Amino acid sequence: MAILKIAKMGHPVLRRRSDPVANPGSPEVARLVADMLETLEDADGAGLAAAQVHVPLRVVMFHVPAGHDDDDNEPEPVPLIVLVNPEVEILTEEMETDWEGCLSVPGLIGAVPRYTAVRYRGTTPEGEAIDHEVQGFHARVVQHECDHLDGILYPQRMIDLSLLMFQDQMRYGPPRHEEDGEELDEATGEQAVAEETA
Ligand code: NI
Repeated sequence: MAILKIAKMGHPVLRRRSDPVANPGSPEVARLVADMLETLEDADGAGLAAAQVHVPLRVVMFHVPAGHDDDDNEPEPVPLIVLVNPEVEILTEEMETDWEGCLSVPGLIGAVPRYTAVRYRGTTPEGEAIDHEVQGFHARVVQHECDHLDGILYPQRMIDLSLLMFQDQMRYGPPRHEEDGEELDEATGEQAVAEETA
């Protein structure tokens, strides 16, 4: 296993559409997944897409850390899920804005609107079919990771770029922001944001 170098915003591999994996059970995919896992653990992130380690294949991994119980929809932490060739289906028109970070956009955080409920399907490297309907932070991290596979980084999903900021400036408190009459919660501060780096 190896800790891989993480591509940063501006690298072409992050802008292109990643290719489908022809054989999810191949030893090459198993090696890629093992290296991505070690890289994700080293970087202390919530998720990682293969494109972020310069491999333009449709592979993502993510987990939902404890404490992410947005709207009480996701009371339990979700252990690491590895998805090959994932598909995301949006289940609602409702969107929620919350803070995100990204290992490919180091040091920055932004307030990103995401759909609050999605269904995702894919295959694990072991050949197991995954089909989940999820909400809250779980739905957010899936959309973030699968966006990577289509060459999209979270700033491209932002509506209010005044809410793109350096994470260490959270020390002054989150900026005021009204969306649908709701103010971004102070609870989504630096600590929560740090865990959401994906
Ligand atoms: Ni990311």
